[in-house]
Amino acid sequence: MKTRTMRQEHPGLTVVADADALAETAAERIVAHLTQRAGRLAVCLAGGSTPERLYALLGAESYRKALPWDRIHWFWGDDRFVPHDDPRSNFGAARRLLLDRVAVPSGNIHAIPTNADDVEAAARLCEADLRGFYGAGRLSHGRPLFDIVLMGIGADGHTASLFPGHAELDEKERWIVGVPEAGLEPFVPRVTLTLPTLASTREMLFLVSGISKRHILTRVLSGADLPATRAYAEGELVWLVDRDAAPEQYYDVA
Ligand code: 6PG
Repeated sequence: MKTRTMRQEHPGLTVVADADALAETAAERIVAHLTQRAGRLAVCLAGGSTPERLYALLGAESYRKALPWDRIHWFWGDDRFVPHDDPRSNFGAARRLLLDRVAVPSGNIHAIPTNADDVEAAARLCEADLRGFYGAGRLSHGRPLFDIVLMGIGADGHTASLFPGHAELDEKERWIVGVPEAGLEPFVPRVTLTLPTLASTREMLFLVSGISKRHILTRVLSGADLPATRAYAEGELVWLVDRDAAPEQYYDVA
């Protein structure tokens, strides 16, 4: 698959042809990343529609033998506070498209408990699980919580469920918080990891697809103060975007 030569460089940005190429490139990157490390692995999945093609690909026959499923633990960067069988559930989508189709031990699946009393109760339960998994009360530099964190951006520049102007964006101590009011569709309460927790990763991989994202991606890549711009990673931060989403200055116009 040919990646087009870029007209203007942006650190960590790769432009691919289309949504299929985006899923394939992401799948190859994830396999390369996870198969080069021994021991326990941790992947933090993104919600929304953009990663669904990737999840379906990783759950397909062609990838079923590609990953050490028994060693990978699965987490979510955020979820909508709805039952897991609700079509708006990020957990539900990943389970249907990927986790139900591969041999993942049930103990390796760390869903955000959206059946808790409220978003704060869910956040506290999830934080206890994350700290237990990490084995310490504070995240320390040099020992990232995750191997890969998948991220997306919304039309308003939000990422995970960290919305522009919301207090959760500035949270520095808590690993995960409740979001009583979403800034964008679906307008249901959310639970989201905070920026420092999302940053505790060897690789943060943003997936961005479609013309509807070009305007906001242009703003984010030019440094506009938006949640997706504020996202950072202890390890590598990679932007994988398709041509429709990429601002024209970042790829050759045929
Ligand atoms: C969510 C996501 C969110 C998502 C963006 C992009 O729960 O909504 O975690 O941050 O990544 O909204 O969503 P799309 O991929 O559907 O455009």
